[in-house]
Amino acid sequence: MSDKKLWSGRFSQPTDAFVEAFTASVEFDRRLYRYDIAGSIAHARMLARAGILSEQERDAIVNGLTKIQQRIEADGFEWSVKLEDVHMNIESALTDEIGYAGKKLHTGRSRNDQVATDIRLWLRDEIVEIRQGVLKLQHALLDIALKEADTIMPGFTHLQTAQPITFGHHMMAWFEMLERDRERLADCSRRMNVMPLGAAALAGTSYPIDRHYSARLLGFERPSENSLDSVSDRDFAIEFSAAAALIMMHLSRMSEELIIWSSAQFAFIELSDSFCTGSSIMPQKKNPDVPELIRGKSGRIFGHLISLLTLMKGQPLAYNKDNQEDKEPLFDSVDNVKGSLRIFADMIPAISCRRDNMRTAATKGFATATDLADYLVRQGTPFRDAHEIVGRAVSHCVEKACELSDLSLQELQAFSPEIGKEVFEILTLEGSVAARNHVGGTAPDQVRAAIERARVRLSEQ
Ligand code: ARG
Repeated sequence: MSDKKLWSGRFSQPTDAFVEAFTASVEFDRRLYRYDIAGSIAHARMLARAGILSEQERDAIVNGLTKIQQRIEADGFEWSVKLEDVHMNIESALTDEIGYAGKKLHTGRSRNDQVATDIRLWLRDEIVEIRQGVLKLQHALLDIALKEADTIMPGFTHLQTAQPITFGHHMMAWFEMLERDRERLADCSRRMNVMPLGAAALAGTSYPIDRHYSARLLGFERPSENSLDSVSDRDFAIEFSAAAALIMMHLSRMSEELIIWSSAQFAFIELSDSFCTGSSIMPQKKNPDVPELIRGKSGRIFGHLISLLTLMKGQPLAYNKDNQEDKEPLFDSVDNVKGSLRIFADMIPAISCRRDNMRTAATKGFATATDLADYLVRQGTPFRDAHEIVGRAVSHCVEKACELSDLSLQELQAFSPEIGKEVFEILTLEGSVAARNHVGGTAPDQVRAAIERARVRLSEQ
């Protein structure tokens, strides 16, 4: 393959070898080859339709590019750092392949609009896959939520026992976080689906191009409105990175809970052996490495968001080479978000719940204290007074090292004469969760209804 630089006309000295390697992006942007070729094919078809290329030239270009794609996919393509990036590697190979017509492909375009188009095309596809990954995890959560709709556990605030909830309700909280993540991705994809091609270097081109036609060929919603904006802004990449950061933030929170719950001190769940590893020194260990690693990976994804924001913030219009730095953070975010989602979707169904331990934990820590206060309110006590009364009862229990339900009716009545024997119903865990019986509440029937609505929502999309 010829290594002659496609822009060498103006230059009399060769590029310094280190500069050449330093400025090249082909090592990573070759990953965009499929989209680069798709963009070029659409561009060639548009040029022929506008009478800028002959039909023979168009066919030669399309066939040549198709062959190059096959060669790349068969690992028979030689990438050259001297040719800097994926765009010039492919264009140069095309001219080697088909000769004269290959040199006409770049008519009316620039690498600036080319790369902006390639990344959008690539990211659009990746978002489809990531959304599928989120969806798969959501289905896994719905399944476990249904299975554990009646499973009682302590709910926490400040990681202190607050009120009893069901494990199913907890899983549905995770589901909702992911539902917003999936919407965010769709929203970002919609805004991104605008075609930069035709903006050329920055000002547009003097050829009679038909941008609506190429936009149609590439499945873009429409051509972009402003050529300067099209080649320079990477806000779509930043938006995606923010959505990716939020997904990882959610996965990281979920991981944290899985880690806590699988500790010997909590022992609420057991993770499957396939998602844990042992210790080289402590024979008893089964470490939740997978959730820990996902929690750890969130850091780099947040970092990529900041990288891209920083990359963009000082750039004058229009294209600057700074933008070449957009790719590695984006690629890394996509790979790690996809991987984390995939592993999570496999890990969730393999969780076994230690229901007895969850239930026992919920009986400790006065989880039904609010229920007792609510009961007093129903008996006619104002809530503030009820709060005070139950607070004193709890303090008494702390001294006696017992739970509220361990007190006799007489002992309870010492705190309020309003208390009757039906209070013991109120103090049960089942009574407590069943009482939260409204949309969004933790009552098992409400959890099942929420699962049902969620399944409908997912099937409608
Ligand atoms: N490799 C470059 C990038 O990723 C392609 C565009 C280069 N354009 C230029 N005028 N140097 O941004």
